[in-house]
Amino acid sequence: MFSLTGKAIVVTGGGRGIGRGIARACARAGADVVITGRSPEPLARTAAELAAIGAEHLVVPGDITALGAIDEIVSAAQERFGTIAGWVNNAGSANTADVGPMIEIDEGQWDRVVDLNFKWTFFAMQAAARAMANDGGSIVNITSRSGSQPGPMMAQYGAAKAGVDNLTATAAVEWGHLGIRVNAIAPGVVLTEESSSMSSAARRRRQVETVPLQRLGHVDDIGPLAVYLLSDEAAWISGSVIQATGGSRIPVGLLTYLYHKNKDIEV
Ligand SMILES: NC(=O)c1ccc[n+]([C@@H]2O[C@H](COP(=O)([O-])OP(=O)(O)OC[C@H]3O[C@@H](n4cnc5c(N)ncnc54)[C@H](OP(=O)(O)O)[C@@H]3O)[C@@H](O)[C@H]2O)c1
Repeated sequence: MFSLTGKAIVVTGGGRGIGRGIARACARAGADVVITGRSPEPLARTAAELAAIGAEHLVVPGDITALGAIDEIVSAAQERFGTIAGWVNNAGSANTADVGPMIEIDEGQWDRVVDLNFKWTFFAMQAAARAMANDGGSIVNITSRSGSQPGPMMAQYGAAKAGVDNLTATAAVEWGHLGIRVNAIAPGVVLTEESSSMSSAARRRRQVETVPLQRLGHVDDIGPLAVYLLSDEAAWISGSVIQATGGSRIPVGLLTYLYHKNKDIEV
């Protein structure tokens, strides 16, 4: 069940965080895994984990915010593995320096967040679809719970992820006849190496209170769902945005916003 044996899967931003968890899950399911990202150290560490699992793998370093870099990922993956069967658009984020009260967001903050999470996800989707046009394949976009509900203190991030949800639906329609399935996973708060180091214990406690399953996500919570969507068992699933949130529907950004309005609320 849910085997990826014989499939080459690209995971953008596969060196760290959720992407690292997805890369490991794909490797455990038997995939050949291509990981990308800018920083060499996390990529090398994840590559070592993939090797320990016994997966064929390839590291393609680079900044995904350029068409040439995306082309390089495609050609390197095809040269090594032939056909690209799956592509996970995971690279994305919103640096704390780039988010804040909506009334204060400047053009640079808007561009950095929207370009990475929306524009470059679009062009990576397009490159993946072109590579899959003959044999079909599965594209999985990592969006966010923030894309389907208010995202106070991170307005342009939520809007960008809402845009990716919409692109997911449109691509599923436009590319279905090519045998290309397109789905998205919308995580709630997932603790990553980076977010763990940035977030206080008090803030995490407050976040946990919004999660019916009473814990924040960890990076290995997302990989199995990605494996399913990439597998042949998901052959009739396309155009879906699947929430992976521990049951939570309260935007954590709301807590941050309330903090700004009422400083004695512990967040
Ligand atoms: N963690 C959460 O709570 C959460 C919740 C909902 C959705 N998400 C989404 O899940 C995805 C992964 O988030 P995360 O929390 O795992 O973030 P993360 O720990 O910051 O990892 C982001 C990954 O993307 C790569 N990346 C960032 N900018 C890039 C660029 N310009 N070019 C190439 N690679 C780039 C990073 O590698 P380099 O820095 O080495 O380039 C890294 O591997 C993102 O799309 C995020 O929006 C996260």
